[in-house]
Amino acid sequence: MRAARALLPLLLQACWTAAQDEPETPRAVAFQDCPVDLFFVLDTSESVALRLKPYGALVDKVKSFTKRFIDNLRDRYYRCDRNLVWNAGALHYSDEVEIIQGLTRMPGGRDALKSSVDAVKYFGKGTYTDCAIKKGLEQLLVGGSHLKENKYLIVVTDGHPLEGYKEPCGGLEDAVNEAKHLGVKVFSVVSVGIKDVFDFIPGSDQLNVISCQGLAPSQGRPGLSLVKENYAELLEDAFLKNVTAQICIDKKCPDYTCPITFSSPADITILLDGSASVGSHNFDTTKRFAKRLAERFLTAGRTDPAHDVRVAVVQYSGTGQQRPERASLQFLQNYTALASAVDAMDFINDATDVNDALGYVTRFYREASSGAAKKRLLLFSDGNSQGATPAAIEKAVQEAQRAGIEIFVVVVGRQVNEPHIRVLVTGKTAEYDVAYGESHLFRVPSYQALLRGVFHQTVSRKVALG
Ligand SMILES: *[C@@H]1O[C@H](CO)[C@@H](O)[C@H](O)[C@H]1NC(C)=O
Ligand SMILES: *[C@@H]1O[C@H](CO)[C@@H](O)[C@H](O)[C@H]1NC(C)=O
Repeated sequence: MRAARALLPLLLQACWTAAQDEPETPRAVAFQDCPVDLFFVLDTSESVALRLKPYGALVDKVKSFTKRFIDNLRDRYYRCDRNLVWNAGALHYSDEVEIIQGLTRMPGGRDALKSSVDAVKYFGKGTYTDCAIKKGLEQLLVGGSHLKENKYLIVVTDGHPLEGYKEPCGGLEDAVNEAKHLGVKVFSVVSVGIKDVFDFIPGSDQLNVISCQGLAPSQGRPGLSLVKENYAELLEDAFLKNVTAQICIDKKCPDYTCPITFSSPADITILLDGSASVGSHNFDTTKRFAKRLAERFLTAGRTDPAHDVRVAVVQYSGTGQQRPERASLQFLQNYTALASAVDAMDFINDATDVNDALGYVTRFYREASSGAAKKRLLLFSDGNSQGATPAAIEKAVQEAQRAGIEIFVVVVGRQVNEPHIRVLVTGKTAEYDVAYGESHLFRVPSYQALLRGVFHQTVSRKVALG
């Protein structure tokens, strides 16, 4: 038994190394990844192990919960070609603490961690949750990533104090405060007995807020209690999803600017919707968004002078209403000049004629863009356009395509004319190419969402790639 225990870390070390060597995960915790560290703190004390007959049945439920949780820890795509990656480890405790396994990269170390959890033999004595939390904190700090914000303890305990409840490691409140101080978030699960203690910590949320309703980020909170009435509920899929979703929302990733590159000269037009339905406040938001994009395009152009990148920003509304007018419209390479042109743009606030706007831009490209330049148009539209039919939109889009223009569409909100959007993106009324649509259509729920996070990076990168 002892020999097996001594071997285990070595085996796990081997798994860890093997996981790092896998070609699909060459950078286990590289800068571009966003690592999240989780440590399970599992109560196998008497109150859990011996509460129900057959003894140990609840411990088995805790083990199953942990294993299913571990199964949930899959790499997830997170903006900008980055992955959310997981490190997980576990300990169990009663009046002593045993490390089941230190932090290990998932999913490479998953099977090893799960079988170590399976192999746990419960101690069935006192409940020293404070000591266990402190040990878990130690594990989170010595292992895993350098990103302090993304460290979580999942404490599974009913916290049932034994008679003459002792807290030999300074007490639960002290342990939770230490976690807070270190920026580690504590989730306590099945904390029926100790939820008051978690609640007691100044600044923590009320139980109705923290018991898993709503997935508000737990930023700044010392701990989060995800209270379940009984151990069986731990195994509900929805609950597991909730906890992982909560961590996913809460996690912080360092700002990372995805570089964009152009493989050839490029002329890019950003065509803003200036019709009345947008509203002037939202129009200002799209102007800010357009400037962010333009800045990235023009910066990318500067790093490689062989590939000139030029940008124009145009606003459209009803028939014949496009600004700047053709005589003063030009592609620019100077961001300062472009930004002040955008700032000076007044909201037209009239009808919507997307076909006429497409015709305007097509003529502009024919006159102002050379054959060598890639021609990309980023069009704001919800597909609503007065008097337009799919056939008429198809004609206007195909005309633009014949001029070599590749169209990208940004759709804001839910009042969307879907058939029109599909034609705008593909130039075809008959069929919709889903894969093409994915790379050429961007949807956001609101105008504010345009400015959120790195959405502008995603859009600019796809427009640059074409
Ligand atoms: C999961 O969270 C949602 C709210 O986001 C809540 O309505 C639901 O009850 C939760 N489910 C479980 C099993 O906790
Ligand atoms: C860019 O434009 C600004 C303002 O229009 C001007 O002051 C600046 O000299 C220009 N920069 C370059 C490199 O041409």
